[in-house]
Amino acid sequence: MLIDIIAGARPNFIKISPIVDAITTQSNAGVKIEYRLVHTGQHYDKKMSHDFFEQLNIPTPHFNLEAGSGTQAEQTAKIMIGYERLLLDKPCDLCIVVGDVTSTMACSIVAKKVNNIKVAHVEGGIRSGDWTMPEEINRIVTDAITDYFFTTSAVANNNLLKSGISNDRIFFVGNTMIDTLHKQMPRFIKPEFWDQLHLNPKEYLVMTLHRPANVDNKEKLYELINEVISSSNGFPIIFPVHPRTAKILSETDIDTSKLHLAEPMSYLEFNYLVKYARAVITDSGGITEETTVMGVPCMTLRDNTERPETCTIGTNELLGTNPASIAPAFKKLFDGEWKKGGIPEMWDGNAAKRIVTHIIDLFGLQKP
Ligand code: UD1
Repeated sequence: MLIDIIAGARPNFIKISPIVDAITTQSNAGVKIEYRLVHTGQHYDKKMSHDFFEQLNIPTPHFNLEAGSGTQAEQTAKIMIGYERLLLDKPCDLCIVVGDVTSTMACSIVAKKVNNIKVAHVEGGIRSGDWTMPEEINRIVTDAITDYFFTTSAVANNNLLKSGISNDRIFFVGNTMIDTLHKQMPRFIKPEFWDQLHLNPKEYLVMTLHRPANVDNKEKLYELINEVISSSNGFPIIFPVHPRTAKILSETDIDTSKLHLAEPMSYLEFNYLVKYARAVITDSGGITEETTVMGVPCMTLRDNTERPETCTIGTNELLGTNPASIAPAFKKLFDGEWKKGGIPEMWDGNAAKRIVTHIIDLFGLQKP
């Protein structure tokens, strides 16, 4: 069988890497399973894309749709046109999409509408309930036409069951982003600036911000960052800046001398930094999963999360987007009162292997 694996944006690359490996292992063992890796080109910078392929040893994509930047509709349209051309030329038997980015939604729609190709959604079923997030719309639309759901949590399973999906299409497999984390942890790289900044383990903070709700409004961004700076007890704050945030940051008069700004970092360097941080301040979803597994306190500057297990089980706490909630959280951190957290079920590094085993069963492929 031929499987298309879709990857478009930074977090996708991390999630597909172990799936590619698991398919390759089965194919080498004689199972008739092949894949085409389709890069949509949603993220295209060296630092947002190429470096991830290199560090995670992901093979060069078979196709690059070169969608590039644009509005939500422009990006979606470019990805859809490119992927439709590819499928009309040669359809696949299964289209695997991961996560919640524009590429996820765009390619699942195309696959379903061209020859009714089966769609598998890795990380299906998670919901923030916040319809102002483009990612939430992507999740809802994708899940509405998905055939097989590979899920990361019991909450996701319940969300799907509640929406009327039958149990035999839901496969609780764990988290492929965590597969990558487990595999790559021994290879983490100390960033070059570590020594220049005289950083010491657990004596600095890491911050990432890229959600439109936090960074597209200058005043909001200014307030949030200033509150983090003034609550941080003078700890160095390392802030790798997403391209979206960089644009707005350059238009504000935030005192950036209080921050250590960096370009978007490579996977192995960024996670080295996270592993040894006292805490992480973020509005990302994926990072809250990684901090949970590494036991690092995480403060999320969002009002909701589609990954509630990072709060109920892990080290994450939702602070909301009101700057007033930042100082009390830092007090708790510096008083040593942050929760220790545990690891969610099945986040054990074997999710991708389970996914491919299910695909082999679902498609009746012969095991050698
Ligand atoms: C996207 C995902 C988000 C994910 C994030 C991780 C959607 C809707 N959002 O958000 O879920 O958490 O990626 O990074 O898919 N840009 C560059 N270089 C690049 C890529 C983008 O400069 O390589 C610029 C674009 O021109 C654009 C901005 O960054 O102005 C935002 O990029 P976009 O792909 O629209 O969404 P992200 O904010 O990256």
